Amino acid sequence: MKRDPILVVDDDDALRESLVEALEVLPVEITAAAGGAEAQALLAERRFAVVVTDLVMKGVDGFAVLAAAKQSYANCRVVMLTGHGSRDVAVQAMEQGATYYVEKPVDLADLRAKVKKSLEDHQKDVAYDDLRGQLERVFGIEGIVGQDPKMQRVLALVRQIAGTAASVLILGASGTGKELVARAIHNLSPRQKRPFVAINCGGMSEGTIESELFGHVKGAFTGAVVDREGKFEYAAGGTLFLDEVGEMPLATQIKLLRVLEERAVARLGDNKLRPVDVRVLAATNADLQQKVKDGTFRQDLYFRLKVVTIELPSLRERRSDIKLLVEHFLQHFRKLHGKDVESIDRDALVALVQYDWPGNVRELRNAVESMVVRARGNILTRADLPPEIWAPLPVDQDAWQFLAGQPWQEVERNHIRVTLELTGGNRQKTARAMGLSERTLYRKIREYGL
Ligand SMILES: Nc1ncnc2c1ncn2[C@@H]1O[C@H](COP(=O)(O)OP(=O)(O)OP(=O)(O)O)[C@@H](O)[C@H]1O
Ligand SMILES: [Mg+2]
Repeated sequence: MKRDPILVVDDDDALRESLVEALEVLPVEITAAAGGAEAQALLAERRFAVVVTDLVMKGVDGFAVLAAAKQSYANCRVVMLTGHGSRDVAVQAMEQGATYYVEKPVDLADLRAKVKKSLEDHQKDVAYDDLRGQLERVFGIEGIVGQDPKMQRVLALVRQIAGTAASVLILGASGTGKELVARAIHNLSPRQKRPFVAINCGGMSEGTIESELFGHVKGAFTGAVVDREGKFEYAAGGTLFLDEVGEMPLATQIKLLRVLEERAVARLGDNKLRPVDVRVLAATNADLQQKVKDGTFRQDLYFRLKVVTIELPSLRERRSDIKLLVEHFLQHFRKLHGKDVESIDRDALVALVQYDWPGNVRELRNAVESMVVRARGNILTRADLPPEIWAPLPVDQDAWQFLAGQPWQEVERNHIRVTLELTGGNRQKTARAMGLSERTLYRKIREYGL
């Protein structure tokens, strides 16, 4: 594997040359830039393992180079050269992501050691990313299966924002994996060791949901016989998942917003404010923007929740993942139910790919489970399919994509078979539907042993 090079940035020609010379013993290529602007152009073009940059330069300075380096490639290490005795600036550079700083006049041996260490750390990151990438391609992150570009974008975003404290609004139809994504964000975040607390905001009265969220003190309302902490307190240091947030009563929305802005909560019937340290994730299958327009969802809360928005595609928008999901669930349920089901045949799979999946992944999961449980043989066939999936539906574009690249004979064979089934075995109707002469159809039926 070719290693990423080092970039040396300094507008002082003599110093730049001596820096390059000092680093030449290291086992990677070195590129030099005579200023910040040139460095930015190079960084936009390719990846560098380590950037050594002077801080004070005419025009674009070292901070801008640092920002460009971090933005272009997260694994890039930056070593900043600072003026003698300018500790404050050095600290600022480290805060903005520099790995090391070296004071001027530069001790070349010290610089070399720091760049060498940065290179090694960078190599480790790259190796780790490679391995993780391989594993994720096979297993998905956190059990989220999806190779379709739409899902890959979702997963990239999950990875990117998991480590931050940003509120995330997860949108998607029922059964598309909103809760799975919420849990993945929590599990990939620094809060992973603290609780993940989910609350369903649908179908609860104002009083109940507020007592659940904020807690209450004894006597706050009839039935409040003891003090009770709410989910905000219970989730301290962790993540609070507000499911079906679109259903939250308006009065509760105002109180929730206050808690989020003040980062403090008061239990019902209590004046004492308790500090809140939770990350909030929210999900809904409702059109929140529409609810804002209708006046049933507060706009300020909407904006507060959607610092980051993740939209999950419906299953029919990513049919290429159906095969993977089927295999994933098949393995899961054969173990769970101790059944000897090994695989699913092509016909049954094609039917699953073509089906419309109004209930998305959850419906698919249930379908596979029921097929595994009721399976008679060790290969699932069309006969094992639930009846609503069995009924042939018009084929759409995406389903054809799934068939692309398969041997033509196989496609034709299946196509004739399905059409024959549709017409109840009537060869005349089948031939007409397929635009074949009856003779040709007859020959193909024999040829394919149908
Ligand atoms: N990409 C995926 N890979 C593997 N399993 C998935 C995926 N998406 C969803 N699932 C599974 O499908 C089921 C439904 O997912 P989940 O509960 O996260 O959906 P949801 O969007 O929250 O649905 P609802 O709106 O009905 O609450 C779960 O069992 C989940 O594990
Ligand atoms: Mg859910």
